[in-house]
Amino acid sequence: MTGDGDVCQDPDVNAIPMILDCDPGHDDAIAIIAAAHHAELLGITTVAGNAPLERTTFNACVVRDLLGDPSLTVHSGAARPLVAPPRPAAHIHGESGLDGADLPEPVRGADGDDAVSFIIETCRAREGTWLVPIGPFTNVAMALRAAPDLGRRLAGISVMGGGTFGNRTACAEFNIWADPHAADIVFGYGGPLVMAPLDLTFQLQATAPRIEAVRDVGGVLAPVLADLLTFFSGTYLGRNEGIDGAPVHDPCAVLALTHPHLFERAPRHVVVETYGEHTAGMTVIDRRRLRERPPANTDVLVSLDADAVWQLIVDAIASRA
Ligand code: RIB
Ligand code: CA
Repeated sequence: MTGDGDVCQDPDVNAIPMILDCDPGHDDAIAIIAAAHHAELLGITTVAGNAPLERTTFNACVVRDLLGDPSLTVHSGAARPLVAPPRPAAHIHGESGLDGADLPEPVRGADGDDAVSFIIETCRAREGTWLVPIGPFTNVAMALRAAPDLGRRLAGISVMGGGTFGNRTACAEFNIWADPHAADIVFGYGGPLVMAPLDLTFQLQATAPRIEAVRDVGGVLAPVLADLLTFFSGTYLGRNEGIDGAPVHDPCAVLALTHPHLFERAPRHVVVETYGEHTAGMTVIDRRRLRERPPANTDVLVSLDADAVWQLIVDAIASRA
């Protein structure tokens, strides 16, 4: 905060322009706050995923209000995947998609219901924008199909999704599993692509000390987020062995762009399995040393400085305390 109480944006005048396409979702909420502070967040688009579209859109509007930034617009998008049936994840995020805190009703609802047009128009007007899908990739895939020029106008696409193991099935991560056909379009679009897989995001866990670091920020926003993270970690700890808190997946796709020095990455060829009784939604990441392996189409994030990344999240929250 500046001396006179104005919200102090990240001082980086070269902030990266991005659109967050999300399905809030606890970790989506953290990603929104991180992007609002560390990047130039041009807008939020919502998709069905962790909860039905009306809930993820409602939740995005709630987070926008918590940010205290009425200029930030929310545009709802796809209520269902391209081909697969809708399959939410209430068991992780609760029926509301953002269980665990007493959240205020949003001051206003979504500013638009055509996420695809918002993405296309914004990226045509502002070349060099990053698209950051952190829910099922339905909106982004539809935008790429509707506007063949989009791919060359983007700086790139940074996704949270996939991995060498799954969470929704043994081999499929939720965002990819929920809409594998959309993911296949995104991984095949041909431009710069950054991938934050589960292998990476499980390195950024909301442990009790990290949640306390959020709560210690004080103010209005931080305690609410600490409560949300406590709920989120509770569901993960109840369902998973060998972890110390919920992996906070989505902000990784944002902070890998704004703070690349905190992440290690490897160029890999990645394709999506779109059908298969046991493998639908699997990301097939080619890690062979074979010289004639297919050329890399993705920068796969492999490790991060978790404490430094968590501090970026705390800093973003503190900037809106
Ligand atoms: O598998 C984790 C992903 O699915 C995250 O984006 C989470 O928010 C859910 O959308
Ligand atoms: Ca998400």
